[in-house]
This record gives sequence, C-alpha cells and structure tokens, in this order.
Amino acid sequence: MRVKKFLMTGIILGLGVQSLSGCADRRGTIPDKVHVGVACYNQSDMFISELLTCLREEFDQRGAAVTIRDAAGSQRIQNDQVKELIDSNCNVLCVNVVDRADPSEIIDLARENNVPIIFFNREPVAEDLMQWEGLYYVGADAEQSGTMQGELAADAIKSNSRIDRNKDGKIQYVVLEGEPGHQDAIIRTENAVNALRSSGIELEKLSYGIANWNRAQAQNRMQQMISKYHNQIELVLANNDAMALGAIDAYEKLNYTEAAWPVFFGIDGTDEGLQAIMDSRLAGTVYNDKEGQAEAIAELAFSVVMEDMDDENQAENEKYIYLPYEKVTSENAEDFLNQEKTEESVSE
Ligand code: BGC
Ligand code: CA
Repeated sequence: MRVKKFLMTGIILGLGVQSLSGCADRRGTIPDKVHVGVACYNQSDMFISELLTCLREEFDQRGAAVTIRDAAGSQRIQNDQVKELIDSNCNVLCVNVVDRADPSEIIDLARENNVPIIFFNREPVAEDLMQWEGLYYVGADAEQSGTMQGELAADAIKSNSRIDRNKDGKIQYVVLEGEPGHQDAIIRTENAVNALRSSGIELEKLSYGIANWNRAQAQNRMQQMISKYHNQIELVLANNDAMALGAIDAYEKLNYTEAAWPVFFGIDGTDEGLQAIMDSRLAGTVYNDKEGQAEAIAELAFSVVMEDMDDENQAENEKYIYLPYEKVTSENAEDFLNQEKTEESVSE
C-alpha cells in the first residue's frame, strides 16, 4: 500500500495521527510479491536495450512482476512515467535517468511515496544520491573502461607497425564522443589517451566528433572527418561500440579499401560489437558487464524490498555497486559471444 493513498484515506476518514504513519507500516511489512518499475532513458540505445533484456530475465527468474517504460530521451516524459509506476503500486524502481544532473523530481516522488530507487548506468551526482537513504546506484567505473581501451590500442599499435601508416612515429587519431555530460563520455576519452601516452605511444589528435552514443550520428561525424583528413586517420577511439560501428559504416559507405582504414576501438561488447571483432573489423572493445549489472540490480531490488531497510549499515554499504570491465580482442571475443548464448539458453 502506498503511503500517499494511505495518508489520503486517513485524512478522508478523519483517523487519528497514529494510524497515519503509513511509512512505518510499509517498511515493516514484507510484500507478497516484488513489483518492479523500470524507467529507461532511451530503449533505442543499443547497450541499454541489451541490458534491459538481461534485467527482465533476472526479474523473471526471481518471480517479480516487471513494468518497463521508455522515456525516449525526455526527462519530462520520464518524470510522468515514474509517477505512473508509483501509482501502479511498484514497490521498487530501477531508473536509468535521462538527465543525470536533474533527478530531483523523481527522487522527491519516490521519497514521498517511500519507494526506493536503484539508479543504473547513468549516475546521478553524489549529492543527489545522498538526499535519501532509499537511493542506490549500480554501474561501472568509467575510468577503468577508458584505461583498458587505451591499453588495448597501445598493444595493437606496438604489435602492428602498419597502423602508423605514414611512418612518422606518431599515431594520428580521432575520437567519437558520447553524450556531453554523461559520466562515461569525457572520462573514457581522457583515460584512453592517458593510457596510450603512458605506454610510450606518441599521439597526434586530428579531430573529434560528438555522436551521443549513436551509430548513425557517428557515421555522419566520421564522414565529415574523413572528408577533411582523407586517409590520414590511423586510429579511431569511440566511447562505445555503437559509435565505433558507425565509424566503420562511414569507411564502407565511402568505399575505402580496408588497407586504408584506421584501427577502431569501442567499449561495451554489444552483440554487434563482438561480432565485428570476430569479423576483424573492430580491433577491440571493453566489456561493459550488463549481465553482472542486471544481476546486481535484481539482487539489490529484492533485498531493499524484502529486508529491513532500517538497517543503516547494510544500506550504506550497498549504496554504490560498480561491476568491473574486461578487455576483449579477437582472442576472447568468441568466449563472450558464447557466454551470452549459454546464458540465453539456460534462461529459456
Ligand atoms: C554505454 C553506452 C550507452 C550509455 C547510455 C554507457 O555506459 O557504454 O553504450 O549508450 O551508457 O547511458
Ligand atoms: Ca602516423
């Protein structure tokens, strides 16, 4: 029973103050079933759609009821969806917030109704997460993914002298960046470049393009960069696989022979990204552990709903959960693809 309705009924019936303490009641009672409301920023995002598939499986296996809503990139729509999910009696919310700098309306709604929120993938700032004890975050460490991408690129450059196509001892590179303001965009770029430099690779940055995690936008940005730099580009660092694949699309569209292609690196290990590694089009990626994140979200959701959330220690320890990234190259891409297939068949 939601606190708000409880309060309203209490007021209408003119009950005494004591029976108005809906909060205590809700917290003390363990519900018969876990009803999860999932709000995602944009289901057309490749990584998010794969993560949602994993999340649904995790909740299905545990017998929870799940409702998923897609904000299609609008915070206003997401605020309404969260309200609707709370009104439909969800006892926990999983929110992939559209605007990570502005989750306040959602937090207020959840807090007023005493419905805990597990934010995921798009990390609210710490100040916001500290606003209330019923707020959590599950994701991954952006710095680690950038560093791993840079290390993968450095290994490739050191073991293949053809990458420095003009033989000037420097690697001419471009960057395809994710959404401005996203915790994974700038940090991935910075750390990838730092890792390359600290492993002794000389770099020359030619240009960058913001492509908002999106394959089609990345193709577009890449075509513009190619028209300016022609075959000078030797390395493409993309903040995610979708954009790395968009960059490859650009070279294909312009009919560049593979000998004139740069090397491309992504992050995520989406199905298409892994496949592109198997096909030797993408040189490497960094696995963003969607299975691990989905499992952590589902476990946390059950523990916040089923257990005594007044246990402050437990809440404090589990406020942030970061799953580790893993490097993927042609040597282990198949293992990741097979692992996904096995998990799919186990859950069938
Ligand atoms: C992923 C991107 C995705 C973004 C969405 C990032 O962690 O690497 O592929 O578009 O999250 O928030
Ligand atoms: Ca060069």
